[in-house]
Amino acid sequence: MNQLKRIGVFTSGGDAPGMNAAIRAVARTAIFHGLQVTGIRRGYQGLVEGDFIELETRSVANIIQRGGTILKTARSKEFMTKEGMEKAYNNLRRSGIDAIVAIGGDGTFRGAHEFTSIYPDVKIVGIAGTIDNDLAGTDNCIGYDTALNTVVEAVDKIRDTADSHERLFFIEVMGRDAGFIALRSGIAVGAEDILIPETSSSIDELIDKLENGRRRNKTSGIIMIAEGDESGGAFAVAEQVKSRLPQYDVRVTVLGHIQRGGSPSCMDRVYASQYGYHAVKALLAGKSGIMVGLVKRDVVETPFSQAVKHTNKVRSDLKEMIRTLSV
Ligand code: F6P
Repeated sequence: MNQLKRIGVFTSGGDAPGMNAAIRAVARTAIFHGLQVTGIRRGYQGLVEGDFIELETRSVANIIQRGGTILKTARSKEFMTKEGMEKAYNNLRRSGIDAIVAIGGDGTFRGAHEFTSIYPDVKIVGIAGTIDNDLAGTDNCIGYDTALNTVVEAVDKIRDTADSHERLFFIEVMGRDAGFIALRSGIAVGAEDILIPETSSSIDELIDKLENGRRRNKTSGIIMIAEGDESGGAFAVAEQVKSRLPQYDVRVTVLGHIQRGGSPSCMDRVYASQYGYHAVKALLAGKSGIMVGLVKRDVVETPFSQAVKHTNKVRSDLKEMIRTLSV
């Protein structure tokens, strides 16, 4: 029989559009099933400090469309210490929280994995919320789709001015360890090339590609670069290209945190609602130590230790396709 009385929910790590929709789904599903809900503010740091608020059905009204996270977020160093975890555990016991839904990325799940191995009586289920989309066990992390749309809208505008001035733009997008944003947005904006951490990048090949384009009367270009690419980012690549092709009019744009904000897309709201609903159902079924996700539209539960392994492989044929289509 289900013993749960109160669940906690928090958002942790980098924020992602759709996190509010997930908080709403978690709170409403839990209340629907007769549970009480505590919002834990500022992720693990709020757990350590006991920064808790009561969530009712109405406290999560009118947030499904809002970017950011009403619970705030943080990357807590204190929680990762033995003392920090002990404080967090005592706060949970004192507040009667039996189980938690953790919304975040790989750092969040590493923390959850460690915590549940020390305190297995606290049940934790995770929801993937990161624009990087770099968790195994789900096709789409919350925030990825919105971030892609933001990037595409921005780069379309840059394309206009690149074309007018006949310039070559190097555009850096987020993705500390993953190139999914650069890859997919690169296809959507018709980029000349992409540089991502999952594949090796050769400046020589890039130069060849650009020179071939010039021979075919191409006068402007867009190169998408993931911040985590081995090349060192957009400024470093632009400098190398400029030194070899001084006749090119080169510019750099780093899109930065604009990619993390804004109203979530339709799909991010849908994923967040599904993940939030299924996360509470998993806790009610007595599960713990797993992330819920969707793979080919099926609900899938993945242990935290697997989810953080970043085993979602980038399809190398897509990089080849980008080069072919931008000939
Ligand atoms: O993990 C999401 C992410 O946006 C990464 O793509 C990026 O490297 C990082 O967070 C930036 O973190 P911060 O906002 O702390 O600078």
